[in-house]
Amino acid sequence: MSKSLVQAPVQTPFVPPARLLMGPGPISCDPRVLRAMSYQLVGQFDPSMTQCMNDTMQLYRSVFATENHWTFMVDSTARGGIEAALVSLLNPGDCVLVPVIGRFGLLLSEIAERCGARVHTIEVPWGEVVQPEQVEQAIAKCNPKLVALVQGDTSTTMCQPLKDIGELCHQKGIMTYCDATASIGGNAFATDDWKISVVSAGLQKCLGGPSGIAPITLNEEAVALINTRRHVEKGIRQGAKLDGAGTRIASNYFDLAMIMDYWSEQRLNHHTEATSMLFAARECARILLEEGIELSVERHKKNGEAMAAGLQAMGLTLYGQQQYRMNNVVGVYIPDGLDGESVRKQLLADFAIEIGTSFGPLHGLIWRIGTMGYNARKDAVLQTLAGLEQVLLLHGVKVHSGEAIRAALDVYNY
Ligand SMILES: Cc1ncc(COP(=O)(O)O)c(C=O)c1O
Repeated sequence: MSKSLVQAPVQTPFVPPARLLMGPGPISCDPRVLRAMSYQLVGQFDPSMTQCMNDTMQLYRSVFATENHWTFMVDSTARGGIEAALVSLLNPGDCVLVPVIGRFGLLLSEIAERCGARVHTIEVPWGEVVQPEQVEQAIAKCNPKLVALVQGDTSTTMCQPLKDIGELCHQKGIMTYCDATASIGGNAFATDDWKISVVSAGLQKCLGGPSGIAPITLNEEAVALINTRRHVEKGIRQGAKLDGAGTRIASNYFDLAMIMDYWSEQRLNHHTEATSMLFAARECARILLEEGIELSVERHKKNGEAMAAGLQAMGLTLYGQQQYRMNNVVGVYIPDGLDGESVRKQLLADFAIEIGTSFGPLHGLIWRIGTMGYNARKDAVLQTLAGLEQVLLLHGVKVHSGEAIRAALDVYNY
């Protein structure tokens, strides 16, 4: 390798450009969270560190609206939280039912297949949600051990109602897992009231943090099941046998029994805690709880409505069943014949605003625009609408000039 290639990055620190992230996540991080992440590390078993872990458990019980003792962090992005839940709950051969409303439901089904589970899905057209009767019928057919589903599927921007499905599964003695990564903090979520057994999340959406840690909560039934599969690593065993009688969990890193041992008062060593991410998670929860969950949900709803109203007033069409739209992200059709990527590129280059593309069947068909966490703010919404309007005009799209901002302001003034 030439000398200049080796030296160039060393001489130039990476300073990211200023951006307003208005896609489906990640969004611009709350400066309070960035500050929390800049603190010096402490040792993994330092009393201040274990106190910070316990505090974080307590804070996330409120975030998840649960009394579950086992509410803690999986050190990975949100996908790792999903994987930890499924690999720890599912034995090979177990039956799992996955209602699929988009990409992330498909992800759940693929992860469950990798766990060796027998996977049944309920599939509805993208842009819709699953009804409780469909879940009831599917349960009658396949008698699953677990129903696994996503609350806010950012791929379609739909928010799956959970209360009735949670209640139904509870009555039938079936466990439930929910991926609330994209929705928690910006849409109502009630783990205990909705009787959801296990929930996992991420920071990078309505919680206003970076990705890289996955808060998770487990009810007693799920913990008991996972502990039957408990296996303590040979190198840290002391004294009596501690293993459960069940099949050992196939993943070491995502073994929730071992991670719970680590978060327990025993502090059995597992991985090295991602300390800066823990600081971030703690601050995200503090910010949310200081505002109040209900007010945060209201704020997301108001800003989401203002964005949606602005887009429609411009002359654009929203995607999906609007009564089920997530509060924090809206899908909008790319006008016919327009190069959606060219619009996104110019919005970024000229206005430093990022909006989202989309995946799979929706690729090239819709943009996804987020109003979440730190960016669920009036000024961020108005800037995005103003920038998008100008870029569309420059691309020759006949938008209704000036109407978007007025419509959005009407929502705020209402
Ligand atoms: C609903 C949902 N689940 C899971 C994920 C995966 O999160 P991560 O990229 O942090 O692993 C995302 C990310 O966009 C998401 O929107």
